[in-house]
Amino acid sequence: MKYDLRQLDFGRILVSPSVLAADFGRLNEDIAAVTAAGADLLHLDVMDGHLVPNISFGVPVIKSIRSKSQLVFDTHLMIARPARYAKSFAQAGADHLTFHLESDDDPKAAISAIREAGCTVGISIKPATPAEAVFPFLELVDLVLVMTVEPGFGGQSFMADMMPKVRCLRREITKRQLPVRLQTDGGVDENTIKTVAANGCDVVVAGTAVFRHPEGMKIAIDRLHAATSLLNAEVGA
Ligand code: DX5
Ligand code: ZN
Repeated sequence: MKYDLRQLDFGRILVSPSVLAADFGRLNEDIAAVTAAGADLLHLDVMDGHLVPNISFGVPVIKSIRSKSQLVFDTHLMIARPARYAKSFAQAGADHLTFHLESDDDPKAAISAIREAGCTVGISIKPATPAEAVFPFLELVDLVLVMTVEPGFGGQSFMADMMPKVRCLRREITKRQLPVRLQTDGGVDENTIKTVAANGCDVVVAGTAVFRHPEGMKIAIDRLHAATSLLNAEVGA
């Protein structure tokens, strides 16, 4: 059975904890705990050492954790040739696959391969890639991910200078009236989430700020949700 990103609320900010910051020696327990703590999705960072200068985990790990969570598996493919691997990740239990525009595949071919594999589709841009590069594909995807760090590692500082890109994409999505989510990833915590939400992002990835919060995952996720509900109230949304 597939868990579907399109079924999740549109009216509030969704939190997608990144398991990159979990303890891999007790991954099943950490995933059960973050699910119980109120995560809206689960962010899975797949890195191949080519597209980004780090290697994380892949298909077998996703397969082994699938039964521990009923959350949408929000899979962030930081890999070369994403189209080639879409089916394997879908079969392992990924529900959503975000690939990088900077990967070597033709974006339309990657989008088709992901759709054919039965997953929803996201397209991600690194800090150096302009927002407009995604415009030709907006009608074809379910989510756009604006990186707020250079992809490859957790625990980096939030790049506030990516906010004009978030605003630009939000404006375009609204203008075209598309059911496309706008996600940010990297350095998001209970403070920076206010900035990304104010700029129009509706799905946030948070690794360190959730799995390594000194007061635990439940308080971490509650605070992330609370920070944005306050913001919604302030702007009268
Ligand atoms: C970075 C990854 C992120 C990372 C976020 O390449 O895509 O998902 O895990 O980690 P934090 O929230 O710690 O910046
Ligand atoms: Zn990520």
